[in-house]
Amino acid sequence: MSIVEQAREGDILVLTIHNPPVNAFSPGVPEGLHAGLDAAEADGDVRAVVIIGGGRTFIAGADIKTFDLPREQAPDLRGFVTRLDAFAKPTVAAIHGTALGGGLEVALACTYRVVTADARLGLPEVKLGVLPGAGGTQRLPRVVGAQKALEMMLSGSPVGATEARTLGLVDEVVEGDLRAAAVEFARAHADARPLPRISERGVEGASPELFAAARAGLGKTHKGQYSPGLIVDLAEMAATKPFAEGWDAEAQLFMQAKDSPQSRALRHVFFAEREAGKVRGLGKDTPVGDVRQVGIIGAGTMGGGIAMNFLNVGLPVTIVETAQDALDRGLATIRRNYENSAKKGRLTGDDVEKRMGLLTPTLDMGALADADLIIEAVFENMEVKKAIFTRLDAVAKPGAILASNTSTLNVNEIAAVTARPEQVIGLHFFSPANVMKLLEIVRADKTSDTVLATSLAVARKIGKVGVVVGVCDGFVGNRMVHRYGDEARKLVEEGADPQAVDAAMHALGLPMGPFEMSDMAGLDIGYAIRQHQAGERGEPKPDGWLDRIVETGRKGQKTGGGIYDYGDDRRPRPNAKMGQLIADYRAEKGLTPREIGQDEITKRLAYSLVNEGAQILEEGIAQRAGDIDVIYLYGYGFPAYRGGPMGYASEQGLGNVAADLEKYGQTPAPLLRHLADEGKTFAAYDRETAKG
Ligand code: CAA
Repeated sequence: MSIVEQAREGDILVLTIHNPPVNAFSPGVPEGLHAGLDAAEADGDVRAVVIIGGGRTFIAGADIKTFDLPREQAPDLRGFVTRLDAFAKPTVAAIHGTALGGGLEVALACTYRVVTADARLGLPEVKLGVLPGAGGTQRLPRVVGAQKALEMMLSGSPVGATEARTLGLVDEVVEGDLRAAAVEFARAHADARPLPRISERGVEGASPELFAAARAGLGKTHKGQYSPGLIVDLAEMAATKPFAEGWDAEAQLFMQAKDSPQSRALRHVFFAEREAGKVRGLGKDTPVGDVRQVGIIGAGTMGGGIAMNFLNVGLPVTIVETAQDALDRGLATIRRNYENSAKKGRLTGDDVEKRMGLLTPTLDMGALADADLIIEAVFENMEVKKAIFTRLDAVAKPGAILASNTSTLNVNEIAAVTARPEQVIGLHFFSPANVMKLLEIVRADKTSDTVLATSLAVARKIGKVGVVVGVCDGFVGNRMVHRYGDEARKLVEEGADPQAVDAAMHALGLPMGPFEMSDMAGLDIGYAIRQHQAGERGEPKPDGWLDRIVETGRKGQKTGGGIYDYGDDRRPRPNAKMGQLIADYRAEKGLTPREIGQDEITKRLAYSLVNEGAQILEEGIAQRAGDIDVIYLYGYGFPAYRGGPMGYASEQGLGNVAADLEKYGQTPAPLLRHLADEGKTFAAYDRETAKG
C-alpha cells in the first residue's frame, strides 16, 4: 500500500496516510500528499479533498527522528503547508486520535477541520525544546486568540474535541464514521467561496501587556529554557506583523531552537522514556499476570504512600502492621493526605471515601492469602525482611508476586529465603511514594519474565515510570547519589560553602542541591549508613563535618535544621554556627580552604554521577544510559532539558568529561574512558548494545 492512499468518494478525493505507528510526517509522507493534491488539481471532477490518518491517529507531528538530518533530506513540512494553504479547492482535515505539532499545523492549513469526540489537538513542540515550525505560531493565535494560543504553545498540552469546537479550532465534532462524515462535510462545503484561510485572519485579544506578562511568567514555568521565549516572540509577531513576516521568522527561529543543546537533550529524553519501558530479551508475548488484589506490609510513610497508588486506580489493598497504634497512625495519614487533596479540589469527598473503602487494615499477615502482589515496605534490615519473606512464602498464594521496597539491600538474598525466588522482585518506590513518578524495578537473578512483565504493567497502571535495574547496593539512583554526596562533602572540605554547592546545581536546573536534599531526607540516614559501613569494614568511626553536624542533634528539616535552618516556608537559610563548625573542622584537619568556582563545582558533582553511571552501565545494572537518565529525571529532578546526567555528559563531549574527572582527581570508569577515546556518546553505546 502506498504511504498516502488516494481514493475517490464520488466528487471527493480522500487521502489516507499510512505511516504507523503514529502517522508522523516522515520521508515519503509529503511526497504522497503532494501527489494527492496533484491528482485533485488535475481532475476537474474532484471538488474537495479530505486528509485522514489510517490506523490509530491523524498526524502526530513531524518525525522527530528526522530532526538530525541535513535540511535538504528532511521532509518538507513547510513546503506542503504552503501549498495546502493556497490550494484552490476546499481541503478538510479529518482528525481522530491526536493532531499534534506538524499534524495540527497541516490541519490548520486546511480549509476545514472535523474531529471525532475523543480527538486531541495541540502544539507540544515546547516539550522537545523547539517551537511550532510549520505555521503553528502564526495560525493558532489567529484561530483561538493570543492568550489561549500562548497557553497551548507554552504548556504543550492538547485540548479535547469539545474545547476545540468552543475555541473555533475545529468546525465539527462528528459521531460515528469519521471518514464518511468528513466526505459529507467536504461535499456540503465544496462550493463555498472565497475559501476561508486562517492566514488571512487577525489575532484577537492581543496586547503588549499580555505578551509582557507571558515573558515575565517564563522564569517560573520554564526557568532556564530557550524555546519558550521564542514562542512568545512569535505569537507577538502573529498579532503585530503581516502573516508572511511571522512565517519567515518562525522558520529561522525553529532551526535555531532545533539545533540547540536543549532540544537535542529533550529529543533524547523523548526516546529514552519510550525505550525505558522495554526490557532487552523479554519477549513481547511474555504472559502478564492479573493484579486485582494488593497487599502491603508496613503502614509507615513508604507503605502508606505505596498503598495510595493502588487505591487511586481502584485496586483493593490490604495493609498489614505489627501493632494496632502503628496501623491506626498509618491509616490516619492516608486519610489526611486524601482529605488535603479534597480541600485543594483535586478529589471529591466521595472519592476520599471510595478510596478509603478499598483499604483493609489488619495485624494478620495471613490476610494476604488472596493478594496477587505483595509489597514489603518495612525498615531497611535484612533479618527483618528475611523473616517477613519466610512468612510470606507460607501464606501467599501460588503465583503471587512477592516484592520488596528495599532501597539498598540484596534482593537475591531476600528471594533465597523463599521456595519461590522466581516470584520475588524489588519494587523501589521513591518518597513521597504517592507523588514521585519513578519506580526502580529490581530484577533479581531468578525473577521470572512474567513477574518482570507484570511489574512493568503494574507500573504503567499506577502511572509510574518503571525502569528495570539489576541488584547492587543502592541500585541505580541511590548508588549514583552516594557518589554525588561524597563529592559534595569533599567540595566543602576543600573550601566551598554548602550554599555555593547547592547554587551550582540550581544553576544546572535541579530543584535542590545535594545539601538541601540531605536536609530533606534526614541527615541521620546518611550518617547511619556511613557508621554502619565503617563498622562492617572494621574502620574507625567516620568523623566528617557532616557527621559532626548530626552529632549536634541537627538532623535536617525534621528537626527544624540541619546544614541549613528552616522557617515555616521550608526555605533553607545559612546558619552561622554551622559555618563555624565547618571552618573549625577544616582547621582541625589541616585543610586550607581555597576559592572554588561554580564551574568546578558543577563539573565535579555532575561528572561524579556520570562516572558512577558509566560503571553501573558496564556492570549491566542498567540496560541503557538512557534508562539512567530517565531515573534521574523522575527520581531526582534532573532537568529534562539537560538530557539527564548521561545525556548531559554526552553533550559536553565524553573526552572533556574524562579529562575533567582526571583533573579533579577521579579516575574515569573504563567504559567512559573507552567511549571518550572512541569519540562516542552514551546514546551511540545504547544503540550499539541494542543490536547485541
Ligand atoms: N516522531 C517519530 N516517532 C514518534 C513520534 C514522532 N513525532 N511520535 C511518536 N513516535 C513513536 C514513538 O517513539 C514510539 O516508537 P516505539 O514504538 O518505537 O517506541 C511510537 O511512535 C509510539 O509512541 P508512544 O509510545 O508515545 O505511543 P502513545 O500512544 O503513548 O502516544 C503520541 C502517542 C501521543 C502521539 C505520543 O507518541 C507523542 O506525544 N508523540 C510526540 C508528538 C509530538 O511531539 N509532535 C510534535 C513533533 S515536533 C513538530 O511537529 C515540529 C514542527 O512543528 C515542525
